[in-house]
Amino acid sequence: MERFDAVVIGAGAAGMFCAAMAGQAGRRVLLVDNGKKPGRKILMSGGGRCNFTNLYVEPAAYLSQNRHFCKSALARYTQWDFIDLVNKHGIAWHEKTLGQLFCDDSAQQIVDMLVAECEKGGVTTRLRSEVLEVSHDENGYNLVLNGDTVRADNLVIASGGLSMPGLGATPFGYKIAEQFGLKVLPTRAGLVPFTLHKPLLEQLQTLSGVSVASTITAEDGTVFRENLLFTHRGLSGPAVLQISSYWRPGEYVTVNLVPDCDLESFLDEQRAAHPNQSLKNTLAMQLPKRLIECLQLLGQIPDVTLKQLNTREQNALVDTLTQWRVQPNGTEGYRTAEVTLGGVDTDELSSRTMEARNVPGLYFIGEVMDVTGWLGGYNFQWAWASAWACAQALSEK
Ligand code: FDA
Repeated sequence: MERFDAVVIGAGAAGMFCAAMAGQAGRRVLLVDNGKKPGRKILMSGGGRCNFTNLYVEPAAYLSQNRHFCKSALARYTQWDFIDLVNKHGIAWHEKTLGQLFCDDSAQQIVDMLVAECEKGGVTTRLRSEVLEVSHDENGYNLVLNGDTVRADNLVIASGGLSMPGLGATPFGYKIAEQFGLKVLPTRAGLVPFTLHKPLLEQLQTLSGVSVASTITAEDGTVFRENLLFTHRGLSGPAVLQISSYWRPGEYVTVNLVPDCDLESFLDEQRAAHPNQSLKNTLAMQLPKRLIECLQLLGQIPDVTLKQLNTREQNALVDTLTQWRVQPNGTEGYRTAEVTLGGVDTDELSSRTMEARNVPGLYFIGEVMDVTGWLGGYNFQWAWASAWACAQALSEK
């Protein structure tokens, strides 16, 4: 039976990076994945250019039942460390917006980099491999893989969350956690578009494809200022994906569709300067034409000139545009979600090593645990940082 210092399950972002770092520290590592190629989510990420980290990574950008858990790992392996690695591999990158770093060419470069780092660490990789059984005794972990059995001193679970089952996502990590008596917090889709109730969807159907600047606020007061996109199913765009992680079924979100303008002062100024200008043309200076047409059809924008617009109408209009309260019907779910919220309870793990407190040699890294970042490279940075913390611990053993 083959024996390894560590078996890492999941050749995604966290698993590949952990295997590479532990291998380079002299550990004998086996990396196992159920897919036919490694890093499938990386390849899909950032529209094929992989938003691999963010310049402004900070613990406040992560959701977790224990908001302090991520601090140690993020401080010990930072965005600058990963940028150094990317630079060392000669991968050209750029900042797109809000500190988000993307490859100039292709996400394949990040996968190639991780494969090269694994090769440098002498990592053995087994793709298209199902883990059929895991057991533990005084000699370590025994894994049955497609009929073959391997033994390891340490087992690292890097099998990710439930989002995008088409890319190999499985509940494997949660099952292993439960098998070893670790608590798993309820999971739900995050960074995911909202669906809308049919009547509202029908009212907004002409807006599909329209994108507007917005601020969007959840009931717990969390606010994001990014673009909102109307779709044929509901609402999407970065503002909606971000707020979806803070939204619970039945709750409302509040949208300001003119976040860069004090609408009341703007209308007063325009009225003083151009009293005969139509309200519609005035609003077109701030909002897309299709949105104005839709709101007109819905009777939210009266067909009047500015001097005809009375105070009551103006107040109602300002409310509609700056405090649009929407109650989503739900989300598009794991099928299109970028991440899974919840997962292995961090109270069960050491924040320094990612090892289960009560199960020596069992580690959880990346998205499988209850740490979820904002949109914008934060989730990959968590994958790198948690993987690095685990690899350090393996190399110190
Ligand atoms: P990840 O999901 O990457 O890897 C898990 C691996 O385990 C997979 O290869 C899977 O096949 C394997 N596996 C699962 N079950 C198994 C089993 N039973 N046996 C063997 N193998 C098993 N984040 C970001 O920071 N910037 C971005 O640009 C994007 N973009 C993006 C786009 C899309 C479309 C999605 C779906 C997600 C993103 N994300 C993102 C999120 C990011 O991809 C995600 O947070 C990380 O990939 C998580 O890394 P992990 O290694 O934890 O899991």
